[in-house]
Parts: sequence; structure tokens; C-alpha cells
Amino acid sequence: MTIQRLVSRVVLFGGAILLGACGTQPETMPEINLIPKPISIQEGAGSFKLKSGMTVAADSGLRTEAAYLAEALRNSSGLQLEEARAGKSGNINLRLGLDDPNPEAYMLTVDPEGIAIQGASPRGVAMGIATLRQLVPVDSRDSRIPYVTVIDAPRFDWRGAHLDVSRHFYTVDQVKRFIDLLATYKFNKFHWHLTDDQGWRIEIKQYPLLTERGAWRKFNGQDRECMAMAVREDNPELLIPEELLRIENGDTLYGGYYTQDQVRDVVAYASARGIDVVPELDMPGHLMGAQQGYPWITCTGESSWGQSFSSPLCPGKDSALMFAKNVYSEVFNLFPYEYVHLGADEVEKTNWKACPDCQARMRTYELADEEELQAWFVHDMENHFNANGKKMIGWDEIVDGGLSPTATVTWWRDWSPTAVTRATAQGNDVIICPDFLLYFDFIEQGRDLRRIYDTEPTAYRADWRLTPKQARHIRGIQANTWCERIPSERRMQYQVMPRLLAVSEMGWTRPEAKDWSDFERRFVAQVDRLDRHGINYRVPDLTGFNDINVFVDTAVIEVGCLLPNITVRYTTDGTFPNAESPLYTGPITVTESTRFIFRPFRPDGTAGAMQTAEYRKEAYLPAATLPDRKLENGVRMIYHEFKGRTCAGIEKSEVVRSYTLDSVAIPEKLEGWLGLIYEGYFEAPQDGIYTFSLMSNDGSMLYVDGQPLIDNDGPHGDKRLTAQRALARGWHRIRVEYFDMNNGGMLSVQWRRPTDETFRTLSGLKH
Ligand code: ACM
Ligand code: ZN
Repeated sequence: MTIQRLVSRVVLFGGAILLGACGTQPETMPEINLIPKPISIQEGAGSFKLKSGMTVAADSGLRTEAAYLAEALRNSSGLQLEEARAGKSGNINLRLGLDDPNPEAYMLTVDPEGIAIQGASPRGVAMGIATLRQLVPVDSRDSRIPYVTVIDAPRFDWRGAHLDVSRHFYTVDQVKRFIDLLATYKFNKFHWHLTDDQGWRIEIKQYPLLTERGAWRKFNGQDRECMAMAVREDNPELLIPEELLRIENGDTLYGGYYTQDQVRDVVAYASARGIDVVPELDMPGHLMGAQQGYPWITCTGESSWGQSFSSPLCPGKDSALMFAKNVYSEVFNLFPYEYVHLGADEVEKTNWKACPDCQARMRTYELADEEELQAWFVHDMENHFNANGKKMIGWDEIVDGGLSPTATVTWWRDWSPTAVTRATAQGNDVIICPDFLLYFDFIEQGRDLRRIYDTEPTAYRADWRLTPKQARHIRGIQANTWCERIPSERRMQYQVMPRLLAVSEMGWTRPEAKDWSDFERRFVAQVDRLDRHGINYRVPDLTGFNDINVFVDTAVIEVGCLLPNITVRYTTDGTFPNAESPLYTGPITVTESTRFIFRPFRPDGTAGAMQTAEYRKEAYLPAATLPDRKLENGVRMIYHEFKGRTCAGIEKSEVVRSYTLDSVAIPEKLEGWLGLIYEGYFEAPQDGIYTFSLMSNDGSMLYVDGQPLIDNDGPHGDKRLTAQRALARGWHRIRVEYFDMNNGGMLSVQWRRPTDETFRTLSGLKH
């Protein structure tokens, strides 16, 4: 029976349950707040109380899933479940045999008889267990599971999360906790980035120096940056954990690695939770970890740093190729899943140009350039993967220089969008993980959760226009967490939560069933679960103030937070708020210029990120004197040829041409590296406090009457800042500077007049 037919059957059945409950006293039921949202939830009236000593019966073939369920309920609620006697049913029954073509489909029923999960495969049962885990009340003294029937199956069959354990290392227990978090929210792939320039993290028996030398390092620049941030942001989660340090010959070394037994243990742990582990040992670049013990795999025999990236493996040397294949042969045996990730991103090819072995290889195979040599290496490795029964995945660089017909692509380079159209047109599978949206090493900004939630991955770029056939090659989605600046498990959790929740729903739930406000409500409920299980998360931005706020006589600040479990403390003397700082208890009135630092505190007492709110007492800025000529409608924009990283250099760079525009926006067709400067006048209709919003990708600056008002400069993804100014009635001069580094530009200037409820585009400009 298909899921859709099951749904219609249960709707009738659910109605009967509700009728039968008429006349009974309703008790307050634990709420159902599942993430990701299932296809169908039919709530009944009443609940089944789980107790220690209750039994679990599982079909043969579901023993690991039964053990996973028992462990999860023991950890969340202290419940001790027993195995049902052979051939008997239990209070909880795990069954196979759901008739659905999707192996992850499941049906979960809770009724007076107990709990039943039936899956189309063990994977479906694991997904049903994830749902049951979220139905267990957060309060561990309560173990009532609401009567319900959930019928469900995922939209995408690839719902991945990647973790970089090279730049900073996470222990086996920490990796398991990450996997368990993924399982709770129905992810099904764990992409384990095991090697990189900064550390080799997996035991390879044939090459012991890989871990003996490559798994340990003296503190590097990234470590020092983390330690400096820990001080700057008053945040112990950014410190390097002491348990990952060891002293050798008087040197402090940082590191760690996984033995092959530990890898097998992690793989089994993930499998019981419905998760495949995809190892990545990045080659031919990002390979300095290996070169600590085996420098002869490079072109020069030495490990070094090039113009942009590190020295890669030498694909001209048979010995280096043999090394790569031998390493992977050991890896294949540890990971039962058919997909293995080669990496192949960001390869510096200068050494290849000068290397006689590489050049000889290019002549032998008639390769036109080093891009083709890279493609040749990737294809050679893919043959080795395939000969060992494995399928190859690579970062989207594998599309350049010739993509094999069989490789799968993880698309990350926002600025190389045609990799997706080219690969899918050729019939290759693509996993969507663009860095501006799904790279969780970037600090979450205020609107990111919403941006992720609202994204339709098959239409991430409007100009893709994938045919239905191409869209079918979008295999799914993935969130990638690179850990250069993520030294601890707590910080890692902070970086991924709550964004993983939005990705979970992006991967599982059909677009027509998604609803932001409903998701936001369920997210708030899930936070209680994270608190209870000690999982860190980023508290959504506090609301009620701008970064810069202006008043003429007095101002009243009313701080808000989406999460009801948060307390807010603040300072006005520049010190970082701590547990002793004044508690925000209600609106604050200010009569003099004041700089507030607000900080959320979670129920366990840990502090979140600080937010600064500057309150400036100002007189109204007088209106500008207009030039002595008739003004033209619109804003004037000068387009500069510009390749820089701050707005400061734009004006001095070469002018390409000028435009007159209705508002401050990037004209269609303008893209690539560029610098834009806008100038014009806008009319303030009355004396008052005006709020401006400047959003851009990359950097921008906003000036009013020659004074800098918003500094949104520097390279970055979509980032919005707001500021206020007291303006006298009349015309005022505006100037906006903006640049894009050829990686997907956007610019928007909005304002809110004193009487406006919401922001609107700044228009009606003259120049
Ligand atoms: C990557 O972010 N270098 C795949
Ligand atoms: Zn070479």
C-alpha cells in the first residue's frame, strides 16, 4: 500500500478514535511538535504511559534498531525496557513489511495497546523511532505518549550533514552525540571529513606515519584565532580542549585520530540510527596531513604551501597514485556504505606545471592542461573505487576538466552554479550544499534560519530552470560544518543548531507542506528538548532594538526573544554581561546616550552571543541645501571595475559607465567583480527618527548627508544591518558604496519612516 492510500485510511480511523473519546474528561496532553514535519499526523484522545519493565518486540533483522530505541529511551527518560519473549508481542513492536517503495517510509501507531512502528525497511523503522523519541515528553517525570498515527516518508533520499574533524578534532563520544542528534531529526548521511592539511584522523595500517605524525600538530594560526576569540567574545566554548593536548619533547601538541576499531564502532552506531557514513579522505589537494609522514607523494618531495592552497599529491608518479589507492583500499573495508567521497576540491596546480612526472603523464594521455590532469586523477581514482564496489562522490571541482558519467557531485561553490546544470544535464547526481546557505562554519545571522527554511533546493538559483529529468538528479541536500574556528563540541553544537532543524525539514518535508510560522512554533518546543539533553544552540537574535538607535528626548527599549526559556542580562559600561549583571525585567527608559550590551542566558546558565545596542541622543540633522539646478528623478549609480575587499578603494578604481535608477539596486545583467557607488537625495516628510536597513552580499556602506551611518563593509554573505538617524523635514543626501567579489551579489536599502510599521524600499530619489 502506498503512503497516500494509507493516509486516507487512517483519516477515517482517526475520526473514529475521536468519536469514541466523547464524554471522557480531556487531560492536558503532551503536545506534538515534530521536526521534520511528517506527511500525516492523526491525533487520538488519550495517551499510552511508558514504564520501565515494558517490553520491546522486534522482527529479526531489527535487533540493532531495538537496541537503539532502548538506549535512546534510557538516556532521555531513564526508562529500562526489556526484550519481549520470543514470538510474543511487546508493549512496543518494531516490524518490517510496510508496503511502500520508499525504504525510509514508516507508520507509527500509539493506542491503548501500546506502540507499533512498521517500516518499509530497517531504515524506515529507524525513522519511526526518531519520531517516537520526539513524542516522549521533555519532562522526564512524564512518560505519556499521545495516541497518534503518523504516516511518513522523506522527500529526498540524501539528507546529509558533514563534519570536518581535521581542523579540530572530536572524540568518538562527541562524534556519536553528533550522529545521534542527526538521527533525532531524520538525517540519513554522515559525511565524515577525516583528513585535511591540518590533521590526518584515521588509522591506516599500511601507512602508520599518517597518524603518528599527521594526527598531531603544534598550535597553528587557527588554534590561536580560536583562543583570541574566546577572550574577545568572553566565551569558553572557543578554547582548545585540554584533553586533546599532549606534551612531547617539551612541545605542546594538539590532535587525535580514530583507530579502525573505533571507526567500525561509529559506523555501526550510525547504522542502527538509519545513517550511512560517507568517509572523505581529501585528495589530491588538502593533503598536508599525509605529507607530514610521506612527503614523497608530492611533486617536489616536500610539503609546502602554494599561492592559494597546499602542495597536492603528484598524479605523475605511480608511487603516489599507489599510495592513494592503498589508503582507500583500507578505507573501503571499514565503511559498508557504497558511497565514498574523494574530496578533490581546491587543488593548487602550480607544482604540476613544473613537475616532469606530471608533464610526462599529460603527454602520455594527451591531456591539454592541468585541469585535465586533475580530471584524469579523479577518473583514475573512480576506477579504483568502482573496481572495489564503491561509488565516488567529489566536490563540484570534479565537474571542471571533464566529469565521468557515474560520479556524484556535492555542489558547494555558489559562484559556480553551472556545475549543477551541467552535471544534471549529463545525468549525474548532485547533492546541494551551497556555501552561502548550508556552510555552518559561517556564524548564523539573524535571518539565516528563515532563509534556509524558505529555500527550495532544486530552484536555489532562479537561472537554473532544471527540467524535471534534471531535477530528479538532485539527490538531496547537505549541511557542511568546517571546523577551522570550531574547537569544541559545545561550539560545534552552537554552530549547527538550530540551522540543522531547518535543513532537516528542507530534506524531508514536501514543499507544499512547509509553513514557516508552524516551523517556528515547533522549533521553540524543540529547544526544551535541547536544553534537557544538554545540547548547545544559538539563541535567536534578541529583538526590540537596532544596532544604532537614535532619540531626541527619551527612548524606551523593550527587549524580546523568541524563546521563552531565555533570560537577558545587560551592561552599559562596556564590560561583558555575566551572571551578576543586571537582569532585564521590562522596558528600560533612557534619557542620555547609552551603549547597551545585551546577552541571553540559557536555562543551564551558559551565556549566548552578545548584542550591542547603541542609543544616541541627537538633534535633528538639518535638511541639505540642494544644488542650484533642476534635479533629475532617480539615483545616480557609477559602475566601477573593482576587485577589492573593502568599499574604500571603489571610488579610485576605473569607471565603466553610469546609470540612473529608481532605487538603490544592482541593475540586472551586472554581475561578477564590481564596485558600485550611488548618490542622490531623498525627502524626509517630517522631523523624526528614521530607521535605515542596509543589506548586501558582499560589503556596503551607507552615508547620510556625508556622515557614515551603516558600515556593512568587508567580504560576506547576505548580511543586514540597521541604524537610525534623527532627520529634520526636507531633502537629505544619500550615498551607498557596494562591491561584489563575483560570488552572487545582492544589495538592498530600505527605510522606515517615523510612522511606518515596516521597512520599505527607499524610493522617490533625485539626483
Ligand atoms: C570546500 O569547501 N572546500 C569543499
Ligand atoms: Zn607531479
